[in-house]
Amino acid sequence: MASAEGQPGAEAGAREHRHRLAVLASGTGTILEALIAADLPIVVVGVDRPCRARQIAEAAGLPVEFVARQDFSPSFDRDGYTAALIAALRRHDVGTVAMAGFATVLAPAFFPAFAGRVLNTHPALLPAYKGWHAVRDVLAAGETTTGSTVHVATSEVDDGPILAQQEVPIYPDDTEETLHERIKQVERRLYPATIRSFIESGGAATDGPTQSTIAE
Ligand code: GRF
Repeated sequence: MASAEGQPGAEAGAREHRHRLAVLASGTGTILEALIAADLPIVVVGVDRPCRARQIAEAAGLPVEFVARQDFSPSFDRDGYTAALIAALRRHDVGTVAMAGFATVLAPAFFPAFAGRVLNTHPALLPAYKGWHAVRDVLAAGETTTGSTVHVATSEVDDGPILAQQEVPIYPDDTEETLHERIKQVERRLYPATIRSFIESGGAATDGPTQSTIAE
C-alpha cells in the first residue's frame, strides 16, 4: 500500500524493509549457520564462489544468489562485480546486508546502495589487525588477547563504526585454526545479537560499542 512519507504506513514499510536481511559468505559458512539458527529474517544468501556456505543456505531453503567472482576476471572488474551483486540483492528487496566471511572486497558503490546498512564481523579487536589474515597476524605479533568485532562496513576495509566487541584469550599453544575457532565461537553469539539489535533499532548508530570479556 502506498503511503506518504512520515505516515504510520510508511514507517511500517521501512521497518519491514530493513528486516529483509541478506548474508554474504564465501567459506565454510559456520557464521551463516549461526545466523540461520538465530532465526534472523534472511531473505537471500549471496556467494562469490562455490563454497560450503552455499550448501548451508540451500539446505535451509534460502534463496541463493551466486555472483561468481571468476566471471569478472582475469583482471578483476570490481565495479562490474559490485554492480552485479547489488542487482542480485535488489531482486530480493534487501534492506540490510550482513557480511559473514565474504572474501571479495566490494567497490564503494555497494555501501550507499543499501543506505549504509551493511554489517561485518571481523576476527580481531578493530581497529587493530585489519585484513583477511587477522588471526595469523595477531599470533605472529605475540599478542595474548584478541577478539571479535561487529561493525558497520564502509568502503574502507574493516573500518566503520564499531557496534560490538568481545575479547578472546590467546593461549601459548594456539595455532591459527584453534584461535580462529575460539573467536568464531564468540562471533556466532555476538553477530546474531548485534544484527538483531541493529535492525530493530532502525540501523541507527548505537551509543557506542558494547564490550565484554569471554568467560572461560
Ligand atoms: C569469520 O571469522 C569472519 O569473521 C571472517 O571469516 C570467518 C568466516 O567463518 N571474516 P565461516 O566461514 O562462517 O566459518
